[in-house]
Amino acid sequence: MIKILKTRKLLLISAAAMAFFAGTEVLSAQNARIKIDIDRTIGKVDKNIYGSFVEHLGRCVYGGIYDPGSPLSDKDGFRNDVKQAVKDLNVSLVRYPGGNFVSNYHWLDGVGPKDKRPTRLELAWGRLESNQVGTDEFMKYTKEIGSEPYFSVNMGTGTIEEAQRWVEYCNVDSGPYYAELRKKYGHPKPYDIKYWSLGNEMDGFWQMGHLNAEDYSKKAREAAKLMKLTSPDIKLVAAGSSNYRPNADPNAWNATILHELRDVVDYIALHIYVGNPEDNYYDFMSTPLVCEQRTKIVKGMIAREMEKADRGDRGPIHIAWDEYNVWYRARAGASMHGTRALEEHYNLEDALVIAQFLNVFVRNADVVKMANLAQLVNVIAPIYTSEKGMFKQTIYYPFQLFSNNVKGTSLDTYVDCGTYSTKEFPIGLGESKTIQKDVPYLDVSTTYDNGEVTICVVNRNKDKAIPTDLISEEGKFDGDFEVYEINGPNVKSENDFGKTTVQTEKKPDIKVRNAAKFTYSFAPHSFTMIKGHIKK
Ligand code: AHR
Repeated sequence: MIKILKTRKLLLISAAAMAFFAGTEVLSAQNARIKIDIDRTIGKVDKNIYGSFVEHLGRCVYGGIYDPGSPLSDKDGFRNDVKQAVKDLNVSLVRYPGGNFVSNYHWLDGVGPKDKRPTRLELAWGRLESNQVGTDEFMKYTKEIGSEPYFSVNMGTGTIEEAQRWVEYCNVDSGPYYAELRKKYGHPKPYDIKYWSLGNEMDGFWQMGHLNAEDYSKKAREAAKLMKLTSPDIKLVAAGSSNYRPNADPNAWNATILHELRDVVDYIALHIYVGNPEDNYYDFMSTPLVCEQRTKIVKGMIAREMEKADRGDRGPIHIAWDEYNVWYRARAGASMHGTRALEEHYNLEDALVIAQFLNVFVRNADVVKMANLAQLVNVIAPIYTSEKGMFKQTIYYPFQLFSNNVKGTSLDTYVDCGTYSTKEFPIGLGESKTIQKDVPYLDVSTTYDNGEVTICVVNRNKDKAIPTDLISEEGKFDGDFEVYEINGPNVKSENDFGKTTVQTEKKPDIKVRNAAKFTYSFAPHSFTMIKGHIKK
């Protein structure tokens, strides 16, 4: 009896001490641990994991980045307020022009005098495409926002010759017809577009010109040959599987195309969308782990193919998660088609999922070398516009924190904390179900860059703060550590026009002087970034 009382007393004392850090109820007496070892490196974080995506779909282009009649737009028709928000988001590269759209897009429709460009019936999203924005306008836009372009060619209704001619238009200085056409249209210098993907989601039955893996591989290989003969330094991305519906075989698709294209491509593209259709917070919080699991499976497949590949000095194939996001509300009926298609309104729990996706990319920095948040404006996007203005959705803030801070080398970090398990649940609409065991309440990535460590932590726990010992295994923490937190009154908190409920908040610095350990309590349902120095 005496022993029990003593233990309880001890527990109460440490709980009180921890509540001091957290300002929130704390029930556990044992601190979680994050052990950081700057010698245990995974790989370099590629800046291209901070990519985004602009598709001719709904109000992403027209009414999003481009609104020529608006008093908010510049002389070229680009919305100034949106441009500024995109610049602040620090997007490294932008995928264009689709998505499903690209599989019925003919790039020649979108160049030359605007009044001569044809209006086409756009079959992927059931809308009319005016072609008022095309290659040259988009290239001007990427220059202004300081991002690199990443183009996707039409492997559906398009031909390999059409793909070659687009590369010629964009990348050849002068001489052949399409290079001269670009000059005639007022663009003397080639654009030198480095990244090109060989189609979009070609394994999906919904794709215009959908192919089986063998036929896709043949077409993609020949397109790659012509494109590379035209512009030898381009980097090519193969369309990996996006079809994880119960009757599909995504691993078979990926295995075939990796085998067939292993000498030719530089990336395999993967797509993932997750959601919370059953309104189960804890299930939803574990969905980015599915992305991690798929990453590891494809990493193994790549390793197997690299053994026999003939790639010269081009290094191995990497993974491009060139579409990822939360997308489940605007996914049926009218919300899938027409002008207001795919307009999701995001909340705090969605922002926590985006932070976790970014943690997954950082934790797998050796193989994930590109990622594109789908999409940039209005369509499942961090930026939302009306004719009168715009607001930043909740998911804007974790992306912005990562893209401006997380760089250098990803570290293999040990995390010891409480866990939970999920039952079987769908990760998104139409997708196969999953079970997640031992999901840690803390989702962590760490990077080290020139003496500075950046620690990114999602506390998945909805109700409890998690007091955590941050431990340096090699060298001492030293200096004032900056702390940023993204949180809100509850997990369903949203932003709107004139109302910013969820955003980044700078917390007081943590002062650490030459210590191997400090303690911080991560608030319930939060994303926290801590930045400071480790002295060797
Ligand atoms: O980003 C929305 C759509 O999702 C894209 O057009 C397609 O590639 C994916 O299915």
